[in-house]
Amino acid sequence: MVMSGKARAHTNIAIIKYWGKADDTYIIPMNNSISVALDRFYTETEVTFDESYDKDTLVLNGEPVNEKELKKISRFMDVVRDYSQQPLYAHIESENFVPTAAGLASSASAYAALAAACNHALSLNLSDKDLSRLARRGSGSASRSVFGGFVEWEKGHDDKTSFSHPIESDRWEDELSMIIVVINDKAKSVSSRSGMALTRETSRFYQYWLDHIEADIAEAKAAISDKDFQRLGEVIEANGLRMHATNLGAQPPFTYLAPESYQAMAIVHHCRTLGYPCYFTMDAGANVKILVQKEHQQAVVSELAKTFNDEQIILSDITRSGIEIIG
Ligand code: DP6
Repeated sequence: MVMSGKARAHTNIAIIKYWGKADDTYIIPMNNSISVALDRFYTETEVTFDESYDKDTLVLNGEPVNEKELKKISRFMDVVRDYSQQPLYAHIESENFVPTAAGLASSASAYAALAAACNHALSLNLSDKDLSRLARRGSGSASRSVFGGFVEWEKGHDDKTSFSHPIESDRWEDELSMIIVVINDKAKSVSSRSGMALTRETSRFYQYWLDHIEADIAEAKAAISDKDFQRLGEVIEANGLRMHATNLGAQPPFTYLAPESYQAMAIVHHCRTLGYPCYFTMDAGANVKILVQKEHQQAVVSELAKTFNDEQIILSDITRSGIEIIG
């Protein structure tokens, strides 16, 4: 019997970061995190289970992936097989919809789409909460990509209690957007998985991160509830910088930020002095993501365009749609 399903999931940008795991196997994080879902960046994945397959296969953007990638996906498919109590291998076709050459493909949308496609193909009837738990096993941030808008991932303390849920926002995200500044960083990259592990194990600043995270989460949620953009912006900027500071305290120290990242941050500060409120955040790479109210988006883009070229400046709305089944 052949069983198939196809799903779309949007990528998300953490505004309060997930940085460090309490449990590597189940991907239980050390702290809660909050994200927004991006309209323009998503993954579509089709999964087919068939008795005739003798291994999992994955075609990504039309090309078979290398052994290392396949192993990672197969480990996730083992979780699906375990969960669904059926032994079938799968063929997976996945496409990332991200602006060309931006290098912004994310494991968050990938694993959320794959989890949803498997749920559909195998008729598992998982609730969104359980889908979020399943997606989490592929990549922590994927647990947030099950939902649209503002999303909180509750760290919980085990597989059952660690999942994401939407944050009530009275559609405030419709008034906001993100500007992504693509920085061409040639430095050797450290994956978020290994970066957060090294930092958690060795950084003398990691405890400082943990000491502030609950207050940051509370502050961000209060700002969302009050639709207070300045209050939200101030906490997300501080939280993101604090995450990057933990990496400087690791043994050996490392950073994801490039000189151009600091240039973009300075432009954001300058825009604020000009009366255009906007705030930055960075993840496990040099790119700078700027949260802005739509009414000020063009003004901020004009300031950025004095330093960065058109291809480096990508705009995206924030979508309120979560996982969609598309086949
Ligand atoms: C900096 O979810 O990619 O983007 O759970 O090991 O797959 P794994 O890590 P991942 O880490 C994301 C880290 C971050 C912050 C965030 O998205 O919260």
